[in-house]
Amino acid sequence: MDKNFFITTPIYYPSGKPHMGHAYSSIVSDVIARFKRLDRYNVEFLTGTDEHGLKIQRAAEEKGLDPKKFCDELSKTFRDLSKTLNLSNTDFIRTTEDRHIKSVQNLWKILENKNQIYLSKYSGWYSVSDEAFYSDNEIKEENGINISSISGSKVEWVEEESYFFKLSEWENKLLKFYEENPKFILPDTRRNEVLSFVKGGLKDLSVSRKSFSWGIKVPSNKDHVIYVWLDALTNYISALNYPDTKNNKYKNYWPADLHMIGKDILRFHAVYWPAFLLAADLPPPKRVYGHGWILSGDEKMSKSKGNILDPLEIVDKYGLDSLRFYLLKEVSFGNDGSITQEKLESCINSDLANNYGNLCQRVISFNEKNYNLLVPDNINFEKEDLKLLNKVSDNINTLRSYIDNQELSIYSNFIIDCLFEANKYFNDQEPWKKKSDVVRLNTIVYVSLEIIRKVSILLNPIIPDTSLKVLDIFNLKQKDINFDTIKDNKFLKPNSNIKKIGILFKKIDKND
Ligand code: ME8
Ligand code: MG
Repeated sequence: MDKNFFITTPIYYPSGKPHMGHAYSSIVSDVIARFKRLDRYNVEFLTGTDEHGLKIQRAAEEKGLDPKKFCDELSKTFRDLSKTLNLSNTDFIRTTEDRHIKSVQNLWKILENKNQIYLSKYSGWYSVSDEAFYSDNEIKEENGINISSISGSKVEWVEEESYFFKLSEWENKLLKFYEENPKFILPDTRRNEVLSFVKGGLKDLSVSRKSFSWGIKVPSNKDHVIYVWLDALTNYISALNYPDTKNNKYKNYWPADLHMIGKDILRFHAVYWPAFLLAADLPPPKRVYGHGWILSGDEKMSKSKGNILDPLEIVDKYGLDSLRFYLLKEVSFGNDGSITQEKLESCINSDLANNYGNLCQRVISFNEKNYNLLVPDNINFEKEDLKLLNKVSDNINTLRSYIDNQELSIYSNFIIDCLFEANKYFNDQEPWKKKSDVVRLNTIVYVSLEIIRKVSILLNPIIPDTSLKVLDIFNLKQKDINFDTIKDNKFLKPNSNIKKIGILFKKIDKND
């Protein structure tokens, strides 16, 4: 079985500081990367910054900075954010790096050699904010300005000499590819959007610009820079040392298992990117998942709207794992979801402090009083014990499939259910009343410890720091845990020592 897994986030425009939307894509990708590692895959997890194009050039000009200097500074804030968010990325690519520039120019040459690129003239609409060309029927007027009806961003008229990619030739081949790979685009609503866009007819795509210079030069014509999306998308293979397709990194990890993106950039990933790759005789990625928006109130959070929640402030105030947990549990994955401090606080109180924190606290203190921090010996599982433990053990493949289908909300809700059931079990079994029945008492405490272990492993991809704090009760470190061990109902060794645990999540008092 192929035990390699390659997952990517979008590479973000460093035109401003990272915001919650960027943090969201990165965190959900990290959860999947961590899960796959826990399931003993070799995981390559790529993120980075997209630094060329007019959008960046103009942002740099506004600050009076040279674009490279400008990108050096802002790209660093994205790299720092990866650390703050505890991302387990294995690479961070910048499109201004040599390895990437070489890779893009090589792909260009191949497309040229395969007669997929020709020189002509573009006249049409362009949105700098989206770095996208729009056709006439995608433009509307609002308050006297022309905007894209797809994204809502301002467009400008462009007329200049341009190279074109023969996208129109790929229409039927793409439709065939989507049909043969029904899960190439998820969720299904996104797949349908793409299908109807492609069925509506594909025109050749402008893939170079002449009127500005901040980009990768067309190898055969230095007056042109390569269209920033052809440049950016190639990051996914330049990070695997493309054009060297014989090296292990490329061989092990291409085609990518998953490009995690927001729904705004679906067309680029699900139409243009596979077309470029097919045209160059390279296999397309296995999946593109377009998640929804993080809203601030009812609006999309975006720099141009000025309604941005700063992930750093939230992490500072509430802690990283609270934010990670909230985004996974409260945003129905695939759909839009909002974040407010009020909802975050109530999630911390109910799910993290009352449910998970409380379970750990009460079971460990009970053990401390009655077993002096030892795992009980002499146990005998009864029906209700196995019912709780098997809820996890019997669902190991179901849980795998949730992650492999990006059903992250179902995965998270499964964990919440386990926590509820574990707390209920401890209440209903009333171990404090069972002191005369030693075997029963031993068993209840053993089962409670086991379920804490199992659930903490399931939580590990979502809240790695907290999960490790809890697993440290059993002297388990990250390297000691793997997904398979949740099958075992008797993992904990009788009479082994366990450790005490401090408060995991402080309840937030609304009057503070
Ligand atoms: O599009 N909610 O970069 P970008 C959820 N450089 N996710 C959001 C979001 C929100 N409010 N705002 C942004 C680009 N995102 C290109 C990508 S890839 C080869 C090149 C996330 O900085 C989401 O993943 O505009 C979205 O697709 C991405 O950030 C866009 O980031
Ligand atoms: Mg954007």
